[in-house]
Amino acid sequence: MNLLTRIRSHLGWKLMLSYLVVIAAGAVVLVVMVQVQTPSAIARHIQRMASHIASDPGLEVDLQHNFTSAISEVTLVAAVAAVIVAVVVSLFTARRIVTPIHEMMAASQRIAEGNYQQRVFVPSEDELGGLATSFNQMADTLERTEQRRLELIGDVAHELRTPLSNIRSVMEGLIDGVLPAEPATYQGVQSEVSRLQRLVHDLQELSKAEAGQAGLELRPIEPAALIAAATQRLRLQFEDKGVRLQEDVPGHLPEVLADAARSTQVLLNLLGNALQYTPEGGEVTVTARQQGAEVVFLVKDTGIGIAPEHLPHLFERFYRVDKSRSRAGGGSGIGLTISRHWVEAQGGRIWGESEGEGRGSTFGFTLPTSVS
Ligand SMILES: Nc1ncnc2c1ncn2[C@@H]1O[C@H](COP(=O)(O)OP(=O)(O)OP(=O)(O)O)[C@@H](O)[C@H]1O
Ligand SMILES: [Mg+2]
Repeated sequence: MNLLTRIRSHLGWKLMLSYLVVIAAGAVVLVVMVQVQTPSAIARHIQRMASHIASDPGLEVDLQHNFTSAISEVTLVAAVAAVIVAVVVSLFTARRIVTPIHEMMAASQRIAEGNYQQRVFVPSEDELGGLATSFNQMADTLERTEQRRLELIGDVAHELRTPLSNIRSVMEGLIDGVLPAEPATYQGVQSEVSRLQRLVHDLQELSKAEAGQAGLELRPIEPAALIAAATQRLRLQFEDKGVRLQEDVPGHLPEVLADAARSTQVLLNLLGNALQYTPEGGEVTVTARQQGAEVVFLVKDTGIGIAPEHLPHLFERFYRVDKSRSRAGGGSGIGLTISRHWVEAQGGRIWGESEGEGRGSTFGFTLPTSVS
C-alpha cells in the first residue's frame, strides 16, 4: 500500500516502472515466442535430414548445427516481435506522461492570448498533478487580477461620469441662456471640478498604496505626535462645524515603528470621516492605547452610525453607505481603502464598528511598537 502510494505520487518511480513494464513485456514475448516456435522448427529441420540419418556419420554435428540455426531463427523472429510490442507499450506510457504537458502548454498559450478562464485537468497525484494544480492556481490569480483591473476601470469611469455630466449641463445651460451667468452658477462648476481633482488625487494615492511597501519610511514615532499632527490640521474644520474634538492619549505610550506621513494620513482620513458623518453638536474622540506589541488608535464619533450590513464593505474601493449623501459631501469612497493599504503595509490592522444607524461609529487601527 505504502509502496503503491509512493509510486503514484512520484514521476521518477512511474517512469522506472514503465521501463520495467516495457522490458518485462519484451521478455515475456521473447520467451513465449521461443517456446511456441521451437518444437515445430526443430521438427521441420529433423524431417529434412531424415533420409541421411542412417548412412551419414557426420550426422550428429549436422544435427547440432541445424538445431542451433533453428533456435536462432526462432529467437530472431521472437526478438522482432518483442521489439514491436515494447515500442507499442512504451509509446502508450510516454503518451500518458506527455499528453498533460502538451495540454498545459496549450492552456498557457491561451492564457497568454488573454483567455483567463483557462484551466487544465489534474491528471494524477504525482509531480505532473502538482504542476497542473500550480498552473490552475496561477490562472486563478491572473483571472482575479484581470477582474480587479476591469472593475477599477469601470469604477473610475463611473466616478468621472457624474461630475463631468454636471459640468456639461451647467455649461449648456449657460450657453443657451437658461442658467444665469452669476457667481452661484460658476461655483457649482468649480465644486464639480474640485471633486474631480480630489478624485484624481485619491486615485493617485490609491495606486501608490496598492503598489505596496515602496516609499514607506518606517521609523520610531511617538503616537501622541501622530495624533497631534492630525488633530492640528483639522481643528479649525471641527470648530467651524461645531463638533467637539477630544484627545485622550496617555503620556507613557511606547513609540510605534511607522511612516509618519502615511500614518498621519490614516488618522486624517478617519477624523475627516468622523467630522463628515457627525452632525453639529456631536463629539469625536481620538485615543491611543498600548496592547501587547501594538498601539491601538481609536477614532470614536457620536455621528450617524453605520448599519451592520454595510460594515464588511467599508474598506472596499468606492464603497459608500449612502451614495447621494456622500456625494454631496464630496466623498468618493476611497479614503478607507487607502487607509487600509497604508496600515497593512506598516504591519497593522484596521477596522470599523458601529452599533447601528444613529448610534455613532468607532474606527480603529494598530501599529507595531518599535522594539529597541
Ligand atoms: N465615521 C463614520 N460614520 C458613518 N459612516 C462612515 C464613517 N466613516 C466612513 N463611513 C462610511 O463609509 C464610507 C466609506 O468611507 P471612505 O472614507 O472610504 O469614503 P468617503 O468618506 O465617502 O470618501 P473619501 O474617499 O473622500 O474619503 C463612507 O461613504 C460612509 O458611508
Ligand atoms: Mg472618507
